[in-house]
Amino acid sequence: MCGIFGAVTRKGDVTPAILAGLALLEYRGYDSAGVAVFTERGVEKRRRVGKLEVLREALHREGFGGPALIGVGHTRWATHGGVTEENAHPHSDSSGDLVLVHNGIIENYLDLKRELAAKGHIFRSATDSEVLAHAIEEQLARMEAPAKESGTKTAGDETALERAVRATMREARGTYAIVVLHRRFPDRILVARQDSPVVIGIGPDVHGNPASFVASDVPALLAHTRKVYYLRDGEVATLTADRVTVRRLDGELVPFAPLEIRWDAAAADRRGYPHYMLKEIEEQPDAVAQTSFDRLDDDRGDVRFEDFALGDERLRAIRRVQIVACGTSLHAGLVGKFYLEHLAGLPTECDYASEFRYRSPIPSGDVLAVGISQSGETMDTLKALGEARTRGASVLGICNVRGSSIPRMSDAVLYTHAGPEIGVASTKAFTCQLVALYLLAVRLGRARGHLSQEQGREAIRALRVLRPRLDPLFSDDARENVHRIAKRFAGARDFLFLGRGINYPIALEGALKLKEISYIHAEGYPAGEMKHGPIAMIDATLPVVVIATQGRDREKTLNQLEQVKARGGQVILVANPGDPEAERLADEVIEVPATTDELAPIVNVIPLQRLAYEIAVMRGLSPDSPRNLAKSVTVE
Ligand code: F6R
Repeated sequence: MCGIFGAVTRKGDVTPAILAGLALLEYRGYDSAGVAVFTERGVEKRRRVGKLEVLREALHREGFGGPALIGVGHTRWATHGGVTEENAHPHSDSSGDLVLVHNGIIENYLDLKRELAAKGHIFRSATDSEVLAHAIEEQLARMEAPAKESGTKTAGDETALERAVRATMREARGTYAIVVLHRRFPDRILVARQDSPVVIGIGPDVHGNPASFVASDVPALLAHTRKVYYLRDGEVATLTADRVTVRRLDGELVPFAPLEIRWDAAAADRRGYPHYMLKEIEEQPDAVAQTSFDRLDDDRGDVRFEDFALGDERLRAIRRVQIVACGTSLHAGLVGKFYLEHLAGLPTECDYASEFRYRSPIPSGDVLAVGISQSGETMDTLKALGEARTRGASVLGICNVRGSSIPRMSDAVLYTHAGPEIGVASTKAFTCQLVALYLLAVRLGRARGHLSQEQGREAIRALRVLRPRLDPLFSDDARENVHRIAKRFAGARDFLFLGRGINYPIALEGALKLKEISYIHAEGYPAGEMKHGPIAMIDATLPVVVIATQGRDREKTLNQLEQVKARGGQVILVANPGDPEAERLADEVIEVPATTDELAPIVNVIPLQRLAYEIAVMRGLSPDSPRNLAKSVTVE
């Protein structure tokens, strides 16, 4: 939702590190940005509406009054209060001595604001976050009332500021990652977390200098340190240059166990592609292989998951699967339903996470709740899994980001090894989710005796040969074909995507990709449903993408295509090479390699991602940062 980066050191200047850290976090929010640092002049703050670049230019023109040993920055994705400079972070208290950045939503902020206003606090923004700055100020005054604190103490020592932050956050309700700095306590950064991701980077930094860092996501820390600590819900950390101390909200000390991050920051780079989205589309053959190959047991016709907490006995006891997810991850879940029913013989439901919580799911101990999430931080999915757990289900997380919130709350985790996905529109994470669900279905099918060893081997063989099968999708001819089709239809006002059975979710995903990055209205429909309404929209101006690759549903899908044709619709057919109907029925054909029915969605979605990408670029839009969207949605 928002990106946070803070640093404290004993040597140098933290401002460049903050700007560089924010640049790596801009995918989390980019409607405004701000930085606050402490220099010889005192607290200095700059905020600007727009992307980080606008702030960077402002700082270039009118920089701070000298180097700073401590500071914090923020990139915002607005929730409470419009996109204005006043609403941009960091926020300050009445004195201006305290600065605070926040990611999340404080649900009881209006109550807190009312109380504080009655005590004379004046608010400059419409945000819930500013209220926290004033609430901490109020608590600090209360803590310091009996004996005035002198301010700075020995590094690592408790000050009134820690007590004030804890007291405030005990009263705040909602989700937050906050970072607090105070001019009278200039050696420390305070960080608190509830349901919003935040990671602490532990020094010394790569130059050997004592320093500590805080960020919303690990890649922003890797230029400085590989030693990190994922702050947990209900914890408050004090960072000084030499030391990190963590306590719970009640003040109890938490044993501090940092982790070593092994992956490479360069993996998160664009590697020469004009956009992350294109790079990530092209990375899919590797990502699919990374997610599957090490897990395939070709001989036993089975799958092995690393550190998987659900053994055969637990898997055999499952009677039903409940998938919850949002957006693209939900579309993966809809394909997963086919896998789990077909390969594992398990009744499976798949719900929007945001809806699941508000119906009345039937409690049952033999349900496996599967949460699918690229980021592992999507609040709706987290909450839906929490709900499923309260109702007795075991929880399995399918996630791409290691150590994120969903894996940490799950009984078992299946990581997609897609590598960092930076483009806001999910591409490689989606295909890897499909692979993970396929592997899960095979594992369940084998453990439960639904799949014989031979059937297991067959399923695995199909996956093993998938990678070279994807090659034609990345040939110059295939790229040029999609480019040409994109050019022909880039001016369309609406698009319709049709698919049947296991390809229906791919129609939904093709439509979602197109609308989110090109802003063209697009709908995905089950091909058989078209005659019950959407057929009325068909005329010569409407491009209709029809997915009709080999398999059980092909013939019926082609029948629906005839109906589109008869009404003058423009058909873009996704078909296997040599399809005899393609020439006759389609205005344009996107050829995709043949594979099994189950794996076809992984193949078929790739040219649809490319089509959306090409159209967005042709319309002069930035596919990596579509308007109004953020990479991880940590609010309900
Ligand atoms: C679309 C997209 C979103 C996400 C959704 C869930 O391209 O990326 O629809 O799929 O916000 O996010 P995760 O998978 O992180 O839970």
